[in-house]
Amino acid sequence: MEIKTNNIDRREIIEGLKIYNYFILNSLSNFEEKVLSIQKFNEMLIAIRQNKLPLLLLKIQNKVVGIAFVNKFREKSGYRFTFEHSIYISPNNTNQGLGSLLLRKLINECKKNKKIKNLIAVIGGSDNIASIKIHEKNGFKHIGTLKKIGFKKNKWIDSVYMQKKL
Ligand SMILES: CC(C)(COP(=O)(O)OP(=O)(O)OC[C@H]1O[C@@H](n2cnc3c(N)ncnc32)[C@H](O)[C@@H]1OP(=O)(O)O)[C@@H](O)C(=O)NCCC(=O)NCCS
Repeated sequence: MEIKTNNIDRREIIEGLKIYNYFILNSLSNFEEKVLSIQKFNEMLIAIRQNKLPLLLLKIQNKVVGIAFVNKFREKSGYRFTFEHSIYISPNNTNQGLGSLLLRKLINECKKNKKIKNLIAVIGGSDNIASIKIHEKNGFKHIGTLKKIGFKKNKWIDSVYMQKKL
């Protein structure tokens, strides 16, 4: 098992996007409804790198099985110490402790960046138990739930907010 933080190549980006797009198409955890193109995904990763924010790839036997990254929480300048993170584990590799492991590593990377004082998880769905669990395990507190604010696959979906102060 390997966790990569830099020198990510095109093949790895494509494998990471495959996982990301799987959850767009097959879950309510991500409020996007259409898959991202490689170009759009790459633009997002470039912005993360330019802002010197963490981007991690989890690899097993040289194959990407997880991706985690940190982005601005909101654009307005007063939010500059607050960041939102995302974490995705390949559907073939869930429930093996990898999500929690990758989140722990992401938090450690965030601690190296003095600008990151708050991490916010915006979790799609009150029934997203796996995500809520890995965040609780890693010291995130449930702050509140915005009820039925997303609409996808003909369903209204809650957003669960969890926060960790670094
Ligand atoms: C959330 C996600 C990253 C978790 O990854 P993972 O590798 O499965 O996580 P882990 O195996 O470390 O932990 C999952 C925990 O949830 C538990 N779990 C999963 N589904 C469950 C369910 N339906 N009911 C009860 N517990 C459940 C597992 O048993 C495990 O708990 P344990 O460690 O106490 O045994 C992964 O499911 C995913 O990519 N989901 C889609 C995207 C997403 O929601 N990302 C988070 C938003 S930022």
